Amino acid sequence: LDNGLALTPPMGWLSWLRYGCTIDCDAKPKECISEHLIRRIADLLVSEGYVAAGYEYIIIDDCWLEKQRSAKGLMVPDRKRFPNGMKALADYVHSKGLKFGMYQDIGTKTCEGYPGLQGHELYDADTFGAWEIDYLKVDGCYANVNGMSQAYPRFGRMLNATGRPILYGCSWPFFQETNNVHSNYTAVAENCNIWRNYYDIRNNWNSVLTTMLWIGDNQKRLAPFAGPGHWNDPDMLVIGNSGLTVDQAEVQMAIWSILAAPLMMSVELEDMQPAFKRILLNRDVIAVNQDKLGKQGLRVWRSGEAGERSQLEIWHRKLSGGARALAFVNRHNHPTEVTFTHSEMKLPQKDYNIQDLFKPENQQSLKQNANLTLHIKATGVMFYKFILIQ
Ligand code: GLA
Repeated sequence: LDNGLALTPPMGWLSWLRYGCTIDCDAKPKECISEHLIRRIADLLVSEGYVAAGYEYIIIDDCWLEKQRSAKGLMVPDRKRFPNGMKALADYVHSKGLKFGMYQDIGTKTCEGYPGLQGHELYDADTFGAWEIDYLKVDGCYANVNGMSQAYPRFGRMLNATGRPILYGCSWPFFQETNNVHSNYTAVAENCNIWRNYYDIRNNWNSVLTTMLWIGDNQKRLAPFAGPGHWNDPDMLVIGNSGLTVDQAEVQMAIWSILAAPLMMSVELEDMQPAFKRILLNRDVIAVNQDKLGKQGLRVWRSGEAGERSQLEIWHRKLSGGARALAFVNRHNHPTEVTFTHSEMKLPQKDYNIQDLFKPENQQSLKQNANLTLHIKATGVMFYKFILIQ
């Protein structure tokens, strides 16, 4: 979507994976979806260095509404959990130098059953504009899948007409793809800044692997539509929650960077273990994600054979200035030593300096007639930047 936003993949924090639809603030005062949570996380995004690293959006997902619209048909934020309303919360978020995002649904209800946009599009677009939000995730539950290719663009035009620049996140392709319809990504990329293609990510390694597999298997249809202003969204970063080890967290961070995916954390920032925090704040890896060329990378090699080379894959992204980022993923539950040729890595037969993006002190080089031997940790990744030696 050409609205001047998301020129690189958006980065930030989203409530869903970690906090879901926690609405009982008496039982869970620290975790419930509330203005208190958003203010607390906004403060932490600043004080813990996430904003400085590029994470700029803070987004409330589902479960912020009252169950009923007002008598006039307007959206009402839950009065108990958002006593000061959304404009005040947006002001607070903006005062911290952050951008504010919210969630709605193109159908009659949100996925958790709160009032959806359908039939109220014009007023709701104006309401979001008046609240001065910067980002809107629009889900597709309780909606007619066949009508989505009209309904999403239509609502996007209403958002645009508010005059407030609002990054538009769509779930339209997800609802089509999971109903065995291949989306028209030309239309999707014209009308949305980011879009979900695949099922919700969950707090476990298998979910990360399944998502990577689907994207790899469908990359020919998806990757060409990523670029400044429009990106495929494989869903949130699971990193820092209980579901991934540190090595597995490196895999997700590396692959989401190769994919030019939105980097949306969904995690408690207050007691984050330092090893996970280091991954999320890794400037070299973030630079790959944010690379100005804006090209989504590809799975370029995948083992078909048995033995040590099975369960391995190579992902490759072209970067500006002629460099390349390569992620070597080991799905095995044991460490693996493996040797690759230039052609397997889809690298022109040249000499390269190799920078280890998770361990900058490890510098090496690769000669044009040599092979690259790697030791990859169990369920882990080696993530490198290859710089051509001229
Ligand atoms: C869907 C979306 C999730 C989340 C929930 C909220 O499942 O895919 O990301 O927004 O709805 O109900």
